[in-house]
Amino acid sequence: MPQNSFVLPEAFSIPTMPAVANRISTMLQDPNVGLREVAAVVAQDAPLAAKVLKIANSSFYGLRERCMSTQQAASILGIKVLKNVVLQAAVIRQFDHLKGSGIDLNDLWRHAIVTAQTCAFLTQRAQRKILISAEEAYVCGLLHDLGQVVMIDNLKDFYVKVMKRAKSEHIPLFLAEQQALGFTHADVGGRVATMWGLPQTVVHAITLHHGPDAEAAREPVVSLILCTNLLVERVSAGNAAAASGLFATPIARPLGINSEVETAAIEFVAGALKAVEI
Ligand SMILES: [Fe+2]
Ligand SMILES: [Fe+2]
Repeated sequence: MPQNSFVLPEAFSIPTMPAVANRISTMLQDPNVGLREVAAVVAQDAPLAAKVLKIANSSFYGLRERCMSTQQAASILGIKVLKNVVLQAAVIRQFDHLKGSGIDLNDLWRHAIVTAQTCAFLTQRAQRKILISAEEAYVCGLLHDLGQVVMIDNLKDFYVKVMKRAKSEHIPLFLAEQQALGFTHADVGGRVATMWGLPQTVVHAITLHHGPDAEAAREPVVSLILCTNLLVERVSAGNAAAASGLFATPIARPLGINSEVETAAIEFVAGALKAVEI
């Protein structure tokens, strides 16, 4: 795997993993820690617990009964899924202070969550082995563009202008970033994932989610994130026609997604974009 050797500006700060998500990660490594203890940690933070229950009760998890407590959520969803639900709620909260920065953060989170959900959806339906679990695929999707949020936080108006320029000139954001800064949100996202101790496959997939395409054509996890990002972008832009056929191209070869699954995924994304709760 290639090393990511770009240089960040001095004083550029990479956020730490939200404390509660970090604590749960550590707890999960201890075989003596059970559901009860993990759920109790989440319950101690009332606003976070409320958010976690809202996500757990959203249509994505399709629970038959409504969770009323984090204990119940932990036992119905399982610890690994609960960990992701906590991560999602905590990451979004960690950047609440950026509301009003001139960028629609909800748009960004909507894209991240739907990409996460679609990565999990496709992992469960791919005909080839993707090498990661649906839960890990969810994390990749959730965090793939986190570099953008970290760049808004660090570079403020300068970065907001880069984003606006990319939009008005119809150039991909990562190219505008490369021109203006010499590194991209994919580079920054990879650095965040490294600092958070995420598995190397996750780091690699986040770093390469805008290419080069040759990496996607070779590595299933890179292919999954790169293709799912494109799929979600195209369906979000109302361009389902451009989304169809994506999984027959070389960048999607390592996945083995047939046309029926692709059609189902396009419908899934359209539904998820409407249903997502932030
Ligand atoms: Fe991106
Ligand atoms: Fe993206």
